[in-house]
Amino acid sequence: MTGSVYDCVILPLNKIHNRDGNITIVEGQKNIPFDVKRIYYLYDIPGGEARGGHGHKELYQLIVSASGSFDVMIDDGINKKIVTLNRPDYGLLIVPGIWRELIEFSSGAICLVLASHKYDENDYIRDYKDFKTYKEITYDK
Ligand code: TYD
Repeated sequence: MTGSVYDCVILPLNKIHNRDGNITIVEGQKNIPFDVKRIYYLYDIPGGEARGGHGHKELYQLIVSASGSFDVMIDDGINKKIVTLNRPDYGLLIVPGIWRELIEFSSGAICLVLASHKYDENDYIRDYKDFKTYKEITYDK
């Protein structure tokens, strides 16, 4: 079966700390298991708003709270998990075949997303029923 919530792990990212502040470096194939082809970030999210609400067929992502906090609900069609992200030196790896929703954004939160592929609408599954069907079809793979 493509992608289980148990494959979606929190990855500690290295933090170099000194009196001038912190720096965290993410390098493709080094501390994340894919090369980064695209970066985007969500910000100015109104209170109570949810983002995401879709799955991907091939895309790997690392989701980081660059500022503030939010919750990521992940669902592989069988199991669900809620992960709170609130530190810039930790990222949530999301493997292909996972339905995700981002909720409970704090004021000023910035959600940074590193992605393994360029934007491709064909990689999205935007309907939950289609997602369930997709997971059933790919169950034996
Ligand atoms: P979408 O992925 O639906 O946002 P979210 O999951 O955060 O709610 O994307 C929102 C809009 O932005 C949609 O019209 C597609 C567009 N978009 C791009 O053009 N390129 C991208 O890399 C991304 C992530 C979105």
